[in-house]
Amino acid sequence: MSLRVVSGSSNTGLAGAVAGACDTELVDCELSTFPDGERRARVAPLVGDDVFVVQPTGPPVNDHLIELALLVDACRRGRSDRVTAVVPYFGYARQDRRDHPGESIGARVALDLLASAGVDRLVVVDAHTPTLEAMSSVPMEMLTAVPLLADAVRDACRAATVIVAPDLGAAKLAEHYAACLSLPVVVVRKQRLSGSEVRASTVVGDLGGGMALIVDDMVSTGGTIEAAARLVCDHGVRSVVVAASHVLPSGGGSARFEDLPIERVVTTDSLPHPLVPGGTIEEHSIADLVAATIRRLHGAPGQLPAPHP
Ligand code: R5P
Repeated sequence: MSLRVVSGSSNTGLAGAVAGACDTELVDCELSTFPDGERRARVAPLVGDDVFVVQPTGPPVNDHLIELALLVDACRRGRSDRVTAVVPYFGYARQDRRDHPGESIGARVALDLLASAGVDRLVVVDAHTPTLEAMSSVPMEMLTAVPLLADAVRDACRAATVIVAPDLGAAKLAEHYAACLSLPVVVVRKQRLSGSEVRASTVVGDLGGGMALIVDDMVSTGGTIEAAARLVCDHGVRSVVVAASHVLPSGGGSARFEDLPIERVVTTDSLPHPLVPGGTIEEHSIADLVAATIRRLHGAPGQLPAPHP
């Protein structure tokens, strides 16, 4: 059973780097769109192969999700032996519960779509919620970029640095950064007003007045980071660094930070972003992390992943 890597259209740069780190090349495939907007996928022969389809489902989320399902189906119908979807950023993961009567649960629908297309296993990096694994009917490998991003900011973290969780949901993630960097954690109380606006009202913990490392799993519109940064600066913090595993390319997030003392936004290449020279966004590649997991799942000798703290 040969290890093969297929790329969807959402992040061919990452997929190519992952294939290279697995000592293979991307499988030839054709992805096209019919005049009515339907996507179509066709892959080269993969009979008996162990196939890894790399496709983060960032914006446009629906196109990338359906394309992933079509690629999985194409591999399955092409008689590959096993199909693993590598979805470093898993769109719809924020819809993990019903906040209001009558709502759908998007995370469950997205997972069921992939399972029904024939996926055998999923690989996800810093999923918005650990519940995603429990919701999935196929096994899921949950990876984390926190040690990678913590290393990237280690030198910038002076003695007076505190780690800031911009909402309660980010508190566990902040504890993971705290364990990597031996720094204290404070938590911001956030209320979401709309898809793009949030209100940060109080800080629980001692900010100290030095630097704040605001951590989150993702930046979409930038509203959460903007509100947290304004609040901590109002409380005496002088400079801010942001670490987020996923920065959505369409969110316009960093434009909202322009009048704030945000020195750097450190993220991964889970999603493609146009990097502006001299801009604040700094990318660190997860290709080696993903490739090591693929090799382990394929059966190559390797270590088990470290358990999440
Ligand atoms: C929310 O629960 C997430 O962890 C992020 O804080 C949020 O989704 C970021 O979105 P935005 O950048 O639009 O505030």
